Amino acid sequence: MPKRRSPPSHRRATSVAPARAAVAAVPLSVVILAAGEGKRMKSALPKVLQPLAGRPLLKHVIDTARSLVPATLQVVYGHGGEAVRAALAGESVAWTLQAERLGTGHAVAQALPGIPDDTLVLVLYGDVPLIGRATLAALLALAGPRRLALLTARLENPEGYGRIVRNARGLVQKIVEEADATPRQRAIHECNTGVLAAPAHLLRGWLARLTTDNARGEYYLTDVIALAVRDRVAVRPLLTGTAAEALGVNDKAQLAQLEAQCRARAAQELLAAGVTLADPARVDVRGTLVVGQDVFIDVNVVFEGRVVLGDGARIGAGCVVRNSEVGARTEVFPHCVIDQAVIGPECNIGPFARFRPSSTLAAGVHIGNFVEVKNSQLGAGSKANHLSYVGDAELGRGVNIGAGTIVANYDGAVKHRTVIGDDVHTGSNSVLVAPITVGAGATIAAGSTVTHAVPAGKLTVARARQVTVDGWHRPVKPRK
Ligand code: UD1
Ligand code: CA
Repeated sequence: MPKRRSPPSHRRATSVAPARAAVAAVPLSVVILAAGEGKRMKSALPKVLQPLAGRPLLKHVIDTARSLVPATLQVVYGHGGEAVRAALAGESVAWTLQAERLGTGHAVAQALPGIPDDTLVLVLYGDVPLIGRATLAALLALAGPRRLALLTARLENPEGYGRIVRNARGLVQKIVEEADATPRQRAIHECNTGVLAAPAHLLRGWLARLTTDNARGEYYLTDVIALAVRDRVAVRPLLTGTAAEALGVNDKAQLAQLEAQCRARAAQELLAAGVTLADPARVDVRGTLVVGQDVFIDVNVVFEGRVVLGDGARIGAGCVVRNSEVGARTEVFPHCVIDQAVIGPECNIGPFARFRPSSTLAAGVHIGNFVEVKNSQLGAGSKANHLSYVGDAELGRGVNIGAGTIVANYDGAVKHRTVIGDDVHTGSNSVLVAPITVGAGATIAAGSTVTHAVPAGKLTVARARQVTVDGWHRPVKPRK
């Protein structure tokens, strides 16, 4: 992982919301529903683990929930549940099993036993990943000991969502699921986001009264709205201003839509931070990107994990950069794959270079086309411009790795280190068999295979001597 500290001009362009102070006056319990089958995804991977902007759908929801600093955070899991738990094993959440998938109301009921009566319960859906912290905080402010708060959204295409039914005075009466809706109700564009907040003791009562008397034969959480109205408990709807955050993900088409939302959002943040993007529609940030001033990013670049780009860094078309730092004024030419590298300032990288994990480059290093670097340190001004492999090696300053040089670091069982002093030149097509040291200022002749320590400041030739055979005749084809 990168270690270098960012200069002050660096700004955080895209990031996970940091944890803040608790928002609710009463204890808050968050319940995230993630037990659905996700059949519509047609995937072996459970729906809530499908990646969005580099993180599982459920991880987005957990991160947002955690930013509210709840007293408890439960995830209801079921189908494919062990895979979900294993994938998010590092999360400090309480896992609650819903053994049978009997509906969203039944799912919430599984989580309630451990929640004290005076708690405010916030229900989130594991497949509604872009819901924002500010919206949730506003929703929680609307809920109270005798009030239920419901997040709604006006969607251009409401297909598949529960519809919000209001009376003539505009008061919410109930939610009707699409499968149960009349044609008139289907024409309603105000939709249920799935997010609601209600006091635990009221929710407990309502969930106990749910029935499966509906088109899907499930215990619908959405039916608690009509029960609240019947009990004269105020239902406070909050219509979100940003419909995108309410979008649910049931299939790959919706997943792609949300990915496009994330892509656009990240691009806007980069532009606002002063980055020049060749095309804002063609850059993917799947993690955190920290940028300096006057950074340029060409088309079809993918950033994964935490990436830091220094002032004036330029990233060429088609690069993939993962958990790395690119120093100030360094230019990465097209089609490079950079994984866990710390690249210093004023370097030239690529085109078509590959960094496998754990390399550090000092200032002014050149890594050219079809060069692979792995777990190596390169001193200032060192160059490997063409067709080389540099693995498990430590290079001093001003080293020139000739075209086609291979550091043979692996003997078939164990990997060994190679240490190359300052100002060493290796000739084209040389092989350095590790473990080996090459003294400062040494020159290795082209085509050499060196297996012993190479002394400093001298020319070492390790290849068969060229001979010319006098009086030799080419074989002649026999006459037919
Ligand atoms: C649900 C809502 C709908 C709303 C939409 C918003 C209900 C009955 N309908 O419909 O009003 O507009 O979300 O996206 O709530 N789950 C469980 N256990 C279950 C069933 C579902 O944990 O037994 C979880 C799923 O993993 C998912 C969430 O609950 O995360 C919603 O379930 P899903 O089947 O996707 O409901 P929708 O049909 O989208
Ligand atoms: Ca859904």
